[in-house]
Amino acid sequence: MKNLNIGLIGYGFMGRAHSNAFRKVNNFFDLAHRPVLKAICARDGGKAKAFAERWGYESVETDWRKLIERADIDVIDIATPNNTHAEIALAAAKAGKMILCEKPLSMDGKEGVRMVQAVEKAGVPNMVWYNYRRVPAVTLAKQLIDEGRLGRIFHYRAKFLQDWTISKDLPQGGAGLWRLDVKAAGSGVTGDLLAHCIDTALWLNGGISSVSAMTETFIKERKHTLTGKVEKVGIDDACAFLARFGNGALATFESTRYARGHKALYTFEINGENASIAWDLHDLHRLQYFDHQDEGRLRGWRSVHITDGDHPYMKNWWVPGLQIGYEHTFIHQVADFLGGLESNKPAHPNFRDALETQWVCDAVLKSAKTGKWEKVPRRAGKQ
Ligand SMILES: NC(=O)c1ccc[n+]([C@@H]2O[C@H](COP(=O)([O-])OP(=O)(O)OC[C@H]3O[C@@H](n4cnc5c(N)ncnc54)[C@H](O)[C@@H]3O)[C@@H](O)[C@H]2O)c1
Repeated sequence: MKNLNIGLIGYGFMGRAHSNAFRKVNNFFDLAHRPVLKAICARDGGKAKAFAERWGYESVETDWRKLIERADIDVIDIATPNNTHAEIALAAAKAGKMILCEKPLSMDGKEGVRMVQAVEKAGVPNMVWYNYRRVPAVTLAKQLIDEGRLGRIFHYRAKFLQDWTISKDLPQGGAGLWRLDVKAAGSGVTGDLLAHCIDTALWLNGGISSVSAMTETFIKERKHTLTGKVEKVGIDDACAFLARFGNGALATFESTRYARGHKALYTFEINGENASIAWDLHDLHRLQYFDHQDEGRLRGWRSVHITDGDHPYMKNWWVPGLQIGYEHTFIHQVADFLGGLESNKPAHPNFRDALETQWVCDAVLKSAKTGKWEKVPRRAGKQ
C-alpha cells in the first residue's frame, strides 16, 4: 500500500470531518493508497498541537506556506474560510501538490478560473468537497436519472434552510462567525448553502442557463468581532431564485438562515415525465421515489431505505437495514478520490466542475442586484 501524506490546513468543522475520513477510509474501502496524517496547519500553534494530538497528526505548522514547501507532503487539504482558498490552492499547484479544496471553490468565477488554470497547468489531481453527492441516496438518484427512469425532466426544486443568524446581537467576523463577514465568505447563503444545492443540481440535471434571483440582508449592521466596531453587513441572509436548465427544466432554489425551526433542511425534488424523486438531508438514508409505471391501484410514493448491499457505497458498511450518516459522505469522497488516482479516472467534482457552480452563484448575485434575468456565463454539460 502506498502512503499519501496529507497536510491539512484548518482544524475547524471541516478539518474534523476530513481528518475522520482520512483515518477511516482504509478500514472500509479496498484501496491501494493510505492517507497519512502528516501535518496540521493553523495559525494558533497551541490549538493546532492539541488537534494534532487528538487526531494523530505527526506534526504541526502555523504558516501554510511552510506546509506547502515541505517535500514530505503529497496532498494539501484546504479547510479554511473561503477567502483563503485561492491563494493556498495557487501556491499548492505551483509546488506540484495534489489539492483537496473545501467549497465554494472561490470567492467568484473570476478567481475560480485562475484556480482551474493553475491545477490544470500543473497537472495535479484536484477535488472540491461537495460532499452531498456522496450521500448514498443522492448517488442513487443520479443513477436512476442516468438510467433514464425519470424520462424528460420538467422540474427541479431545492431548498437549504437554517435559523442560526436571526439574533441581531450576533456579531460578524472572526472565528466561527466568518460566514457573516463578506470579506471572508464572499457571499452569504448563496455561496455557503445554495452552492451545495447548485452542485447537486448540475450533477443530477446538467447545466443551468439563466437565473432570476432576489436576496435580502435582514440585519443590516452587526458588530465586527475583529474591529470591535458596528459595520455594514455585506452578505445575503436569504436568497431565492428561479432557474432554467439547459435541458428545458424549470427550477426553484431557496436558502435562508432565518427559517425559524430549521437547522440544516436541505431538500430537493425532481419531477420527470415517468417518475419523481425527493430527498431530505434530515432523513438522508431515505430516497422518496414515485413511478408512474406502477400498477394504478398501488401507485404511490415509495420511501426506499438506502441501506442494502446493492445501494451505492453500502456494501462497504454494515448489514442491510443499518444506516449511515453525514460523516460517511466525506469518507466516500476520499475513497473516490483515491480510487480515481488508482484507476486514472479522476473523481468529481474537480476544480473545473466546481467553477460551474461559481458561475451560477455569480449570475444569481448579479440578478439580485439588477432585478433582471441573467445568463450563466459558462454552462456546464452533464458531469
Ligand atoms: N462541505 C461542506 O459541507 C462544508 C461544511 C462546512 C464548511 N465548509 C467549508 O469549509 C471551509 C471551512 O469551514 P469550517 O466550517 O470548517 O470553518 P471553521 O471556522 O470551523 O474552521 C476554519 C479553520 O480555518 C482556520 N484558518 C482561518 N484562516 C486561516 C489561515 N489563514 N491559515 C490557517 N488556518 C486558517 C481557522 O483557525 C479554523 O481552524 C469553508 O470554505 C466552508 O465553506 C464546507
